[in-house]
Amino acid sequence: MAKMEVKTSLLDNMIGVGDMVLLEPLNEETFINNLKKRFDHNEIYTYIGSVVISVNPYRSLPIYSPEKVEDYRNRNFYELSPHIFALSDEAYRSLRDQDKDQCILITGESGAGKTEASKLVMSYVAAVCGKGAEVNQVKEQLLQSNPVLEAFGNAKTVRNDNSSRFGKYMDIEFDFKGDPLGGVISNYLLEKSRVVKQPRGERNFHVFYQLLSGASEELLNKLTLERDFSRYNYLSLDSAKVNGVDDAANFRTVRNAMQIVGFMDHEAESVLEVVAAVLKLGNIEFKPESRVNGLDESKIKDKNELKEICELTGIDQSVLERAFSFRTVEAKQEKVSTTLNVAQAYYARDALAKNLYSRLFSWLVNRINESIKAQTKVRKKVMGVLDIYGFEIFEDNSFEQFIINYCNEKLQQIFIELTLKEEQEEYIREGIEWTHIDYFNNAIICDLIENNTNGILAMLDEECLRPGTVTDETFLEKLNQVCATHQHFESRMSKSSRFLNDTSLPHSCFRIQHYAGKVLYQVEGFVDKNNDLLYRDLSQAMWKASHTLIKSLFPEGNPAKINLKRPPTAGSQFKASVATLMKNLQTKNPNYIRCIKPNDKKAAHIFNEALVCHQIRYLGLLENVRVRRAGYAFRQAYEPCLERYKMLCKQTWPHWKGPARAGVEVLFNELEIPMEEYSFGRSKIFIRNPRTLFKLEDLRKQRLEDLATLIQKIYRGWKCRTHFLLMRKSQIVIAAWYRRYAQQKRYQQIKSSALVIQSYIRGWKARKILRELKHQKRCEEAATTIAAYWHGTQVRREYRKFFRANAGKKIYEFTLQRIVQKYFLEMKNKMPSLSPIDKNWPSRPYLFLDSTHKELKRIFHLWRCKKYRDQFTDQQKLIYEEKLEASELFKDKKALYPSSVGQPFQGAYLEINKNPKYKKLKDAIEEKIIIAEVVNKINRANGKSTSRIFLLTNNNLLLADQKSGQIKSEVPLVDVTKVSMSSQNDGFFAIHLKEGSEAASKGDFLFSSDHLIEMATKLYRTTLSQTKQKLSIEISDEFLVQFRQDKVCVKFIQGNQKNGSVPTCKRKNNRLLEVAVP
Ligand SMILES: Nc1ncnc2c1ncn2[C@@H]1O[C@H](COP(=O)(O)OP(=O)(O)OP(=O)(O)O)[C@@H](O)[C@H]1O
Ligand SMILES: [Mg+2]
Repeated sequence: MAKMEVKTSLLDNMIGVGDMVLLEPLNEETFINNLKKRFDHNEIYTYIGSVVISVNPYRSLPIYSPEKVEDYRNRNFYELSPHIFALSDEAYRSLRDQDKDQCILITGESGAGKTEASKLVMSYVAAVCGKGAEVNQVKEQLLQSNPVLEAFGNAKTVRNDNSSRFGKYMDIEFDFKGDPLGGVISNYLLEKSRVVKQPRGERNFHVFYQLLSGASEELLNKLTLERDFSRYNYLSLDSAKVNGVDDAANFRTVRNAMQIVGFMDHEAESVLEVVAAVLKLGNIEFKPESRVNGLDESKIKDKNELKEICELTGIDQSVLERAFSFRTVEAKQEKVSTTLNVAQAYYARDALAKNLYSRLFSWLVNRINESIKAQTKVRKKVMGVLDIYGFEIFEDNSFEQFIINYCNEKLQQIFIELTLKEEQEEYIREGIEWTHIDYFNNAIICDLIENNTNGILAMLDEECLRPGTVTDETFLEKLNQVCATHQHFESRMSKSSRFLNDTSLPHSCFRIQHYAGKVLYQVEGFVDKNNDLLYRDLSQAMWKASHTLIKSLFPEGNPAKINLKRPPTAGSQFKASVATLMKNLQTKNPNYIRCIKPNDKKAAHIFNEALVCHQIRYLGLLENVRVRRAGYAFRQAYEPCLERYKMLCKQTWPHWKGPARAGVEVLFNELEIPMEEYSFGRSKIFIRNPRTLFKLEDLRKQRLEDLATLIQKIYRGWKCRTHFLLMRKSQIVIAAWYRRYAQQKRYQQIKSSALVIQSYIRGWKARKILRELKHQKRCEEAATTIAAYWHGTQVRREYRKFFRANAGKKIYEFTLQRIVQKYFLEMKNKMPSLSPIDKNWPSRPYLFLDSTHKELKRIFHLWRCKKYRDQFTDQQKLIYEEKLEASELFKDKKALYPSSVGQPFQGAYLEINKNPKYKKLKDAIEEKIIIAEVVNKINRANGKSTSRIFLLTNNNLLLADQKSGQIKSEVPLVDVTKVSMSSQNDGFFAIHLKEGSEAASKGDFLFSSDHLIEMATKLYRTTLSQTKQKLSIEISDEFLVQFRQDKVCVKFIQGNQKNGSVPTCKRKNNRLLEVAVP
């Protein structure tokens, strides 16, 4: 993107005013205040029109960076805040583009920053001019010439630690493109007196200290020097070390610079040898020696130093020694040799040292020029940089100050001339009427000094050349005569009545009222310094040296070229060179940098108003402003003017279509600026008063604020709108993306759900199919299995007989059969007896036959019993039936029963039929007799028994007398209700009769029988079969028996054995009949 061109102006953000021309009101106070205000804000540069005032900041400011160089590059002079770069750029561009040679005049007092300014200008030009290997080398050489010249020509003074002790003018040459080609340096009046003597607190030239500090031991030995400063008379000791200055490092820098500039090694060495020789000269001391003619002749005290000097320089020692003792004066082929006294010898020594050094310096400048001179013959454009000593006013001002101040006068002259000329030219160029400007012209002072007939310098020369005794006093007298009437010259002896009473003026002094102030000069030394005498013997001695450099420095020492004419005086030389310089400068477009020193302490941030005021005065800066403002204070080309103020008028804002001049006219008319306040030039508008300009500026500022508000408003609107649009766009994008995302997500969900459902369905279907298939398969398998089994069975059935496997079953069945067979056969042989009571039974041979075995036993037993029963007759059967009945009735009830079991029931024990005695009885009974037995009938009264025949028929019970066989009682069976008996082993029993029956009238019967069981059983059976009623049989050891009316209890007790084994019966009382049973 192309860098936006921002039109700025010097008038923007000004601190104070950037251009003194605009100062209102203009006086010394406001001027100084403005400078101070700017200085306090680190604005060390201020303009007076195109002149730059520079106030030394005494500290490094960040305003010289490559970025700054870029800022000021190709910008108009008034576009940015005042800067030395703006001036450099302006100069360089008008040189390059308008083909105008330039000169940059830097003035100011010692320590004001001239040398620094000149270096800044050079470095700026070097930075902006063309590039390329060759060009860079030229640049490098031009820049590196500075350290070399500073080492030899600068020294520490009380005012400046790096004070230039010579004037320097450097022409930098460029080709048509603006690329540097080379340069030429001119030097003016080196302060050579410093070589032999320095004021208090000051030093000799830097190079001496640099050499002693920085040279290697080897080099020092070679130069027969010692490192110790105190060894040398020419070196001041009280300020040998300068704060913040590293002499040793600077020495290396200088040697390096010499190399870059193009000095050969041997040349550099020669230079150092001369420096060493000068140092050592100072150590030569003289002593007086009386001569025959009574005069004192000087002799060298210690010839060692002289010897070393001669060895170093290749001079014949005797020649040099003689030159320090004698002086040869030649006049018209005559040579007169006079001896030198000690003072003269010292003078000669110092003169030699000074000359040697100053000539070396000039040689250096020439040598550098040789290196840096342009190689081509094409036409060159030139930019001259003049860094010359500023106006000097000391306590004691001597010849040097006079010369320096003269030079400054000339510079002021040229400044005035050129400024006015330029101003005038501009007016003419712009077609503006030229009005006279009232200002102080210092031409009169220049004339006082340089006038060829009665100027001070001319008179000094005259004095120097005049035969006879010439002293400084005679010179002063002459001045008093010639210049007395000059309004800028004052002296005590001046004839001008105005100054006659001026006792403030010491004798042997004169005062010149320079443009910058009054300066009092001590006349002492003027003549000598102007003469600058070096005895010919010395120059000849030097010429004889084998050291080529030294030899070349003293060409006048060549006897072949002997010139009896006096060499030009220092004053006339200087005048001539200044004249040349002025001529040179007049052909060029001047640019001024006026340096101001803010304090005497070399300190930052201190602004000494008195000191600055003094400088402003002698630099004539107020004059400068006045000249500049004489006609019109401010001028500006129409385009930038219109550009800057067009917003003040509706017609011109924002665009003016027509020519700029017409635009400005419209603008000024609109703003109702009075006609006399401005004038229209050809390309520029001229404003008479700064006030008008400031009014314009104020209006502009006001309008700018309004415009800024407008811009802000529009910008804010635009910003909000674009922001809104952007937000909306973003919102749409986000929404679209979000929708897409949401849809995608939804789709994914549906898809995955569908997949799930699908998979379930598929799974279900598949499983169903699988199930069916499985079922089918199982059916097939089952069918196959069944078929296989069926086939197998069939086949097996078919083939079984062929297989051994079937033998098992057969063998088993066979074996089983055999075992059963054998069992049964064995059983046949082992059969027990057929007696049902035989318990024997063969043992069981096999377990599996257990149930069979038991069953067989049971069956056999049943069979055996049947067999047994089958043997019985009917009678036997009856008997057994009765027995069975008896068993049922009495078993386990009556103790007598078991003994009855074995007795067969006979029933008819008494064989009535056969016994004739019972014939009658037998006849009486028609029925069948079941029982016929003899029983004991118990008497109820006493218990005694009577035998009776007991007969039982089918229907009756009969009792008969045993002897007679007479029937005593007959009881139908229906009247028998019950039979009672004891449980014991006795044969007693009672037959209870039905109450009320006939038989019962005599009461129940009580009997005892041996066959009780049989009788009771038969009675029971007969009753049952006859009456169909079961006769009750009570078995109890106590029962009641009905005797007639009484009931008697029959009780059976355990009787004792002594009564025999027959039970006894006894009537105990009415109610009790006791039967004792053994
Ligand atoms: N622009 C500057 N920025 C920073 N320091 C500066 C600037 N100009 C000058 N100085 C300081 O002031 C000192 C003196 O400056 P400079 O040597 O240029 O003075 P001068 O005017 O050349 O003096 P003289 O007439 O004695 O040679 C410098 O050594 C430097 O420390
Ligand atoms: Mg300087």
